[in-house]
Amino acid sequence: MIKFDKVNFEYQAKTPFASQALFDIDVEIADGSYTALIGHTGSGKSTLLQHLNGLLQPTAGAVTVGDIVITSESRQKNIKPVRKRVGVVFQFPETQLFDETVLKDVAFGPQNFGAAKEAAEKIAREKLLQVGIAEELFERPPFELSGGQMRRVAIAGILAMEPQVLVLDEPTAGLDPKARLEMMQLFRDLHDEQGLTVILVTHNMDDVANYADFVYLLEKGRIIDFGTPSQIFQKPDFLAEHQLGLPKATEFALKLQARGRFTFERLPITRLELVEAIRQSSNLPKHFSQLKLSDENTLEAGLLGERGTKETN
Ligand SMILES: Nc1ncnc2c1ncn2[C@@H]1O[C@H](COP(=O)(O)OP(=O)(O)OP(=O)(O)O)[C@@H](O)[C@H]1O
Ligand SMILES: [Mg+2]
Repeated sequence: MIKFDKVNFEYQAKTPFASQALFDIDVEIADGSYTALIGHTGSGKSTLLQHLNGLLQPTAGAVTVGDIVITSESRQKNIKPVRKRVGVVFQFPETQLFDETVLKDVAFGPQNFGAAKEAAEKIAREKLLQVGIAEELFERPPFELSGGQMRRVAIAGILAMEPQVLVLDEPTAGLDPKARLEMMQLFRDLHDEQGLTVILVTHNMDDVANYADFVYLLEKGRIIDFGTPSQIFQKPDFLAEHQLGLPKATEFALKLQARGRFTFERLPITRLELVEAIRQSSNLPKHFSQLKLSDENTLEAGLLGERGTKETN
């Protein structure tokens, strides 16, 4: 269990340049959960994340990770065990690669925490394969890899520490759609199959809807809402006021509703939920049942009665 109790944080505390980035943050993250943290740029997401592994210490309040309590008074040496338990993948982690070879880079972390060279390299190999880096790249300098490959190597470096909690700060920023999907599926598998607790910062509301089981909404250093994705996305007006988007399926459902085609008892947040809600709708016009629900364009055109699709009802 991870718990934030009234956490406040000031950059450059006790100087004339002090600026408060977090205000009375209360957060609870259950073991094995998948939590998303969303909020506008500058809202404090990365600042909050750095409290999860003791890189930053609260100016007031306490962060509890398992049996370790971090306050403004904590000593760095007492915080160190938290670094092994909580692996943080920062924004653009590939900038942190430094070793001569891919394998050495990934083996560095476990060695730094006391593992023998052979054991560290064994786990490094395992994690590299897991993130989809082929054997023939192991002896190459990391800087010769593509951007997406470097990102994977950096993530393998975090996984090699065998953390229980994986913290991801916009991990798919700048990746192409295929690489994005592969990476999101990797995190989902780590969560589903290996029981890792995942904490994800993202601007992508579809990722929130598709993967997370709980969401915290941050604005100007304060938590302004929290709940399951389904609860959060039932409040489109509230989200719009705070300049936050919606999943595609929810946006689409709202469009349908605005045109009087459907009323949704509950707004769907994933494609699957959208299709299910439409299938079960009692006022489904006849030709709709023949629409191929797997084809996004046909579905959209058909449901909205646009682009020449005939309406028979
Ligand atoms: N090292 C620093 N020194 C002083 N102020 C900082 C520092 N890092 C961040 N801040 C300030 O703290 C606030 C929160 O920044 P943070 O980086 O946590 O936001 P964020 O939600 O991660 O934004 P983004 O979505 O752009 O990554 C901002 O006002 C920012 O200017
Ligand atoms: Mg950030």
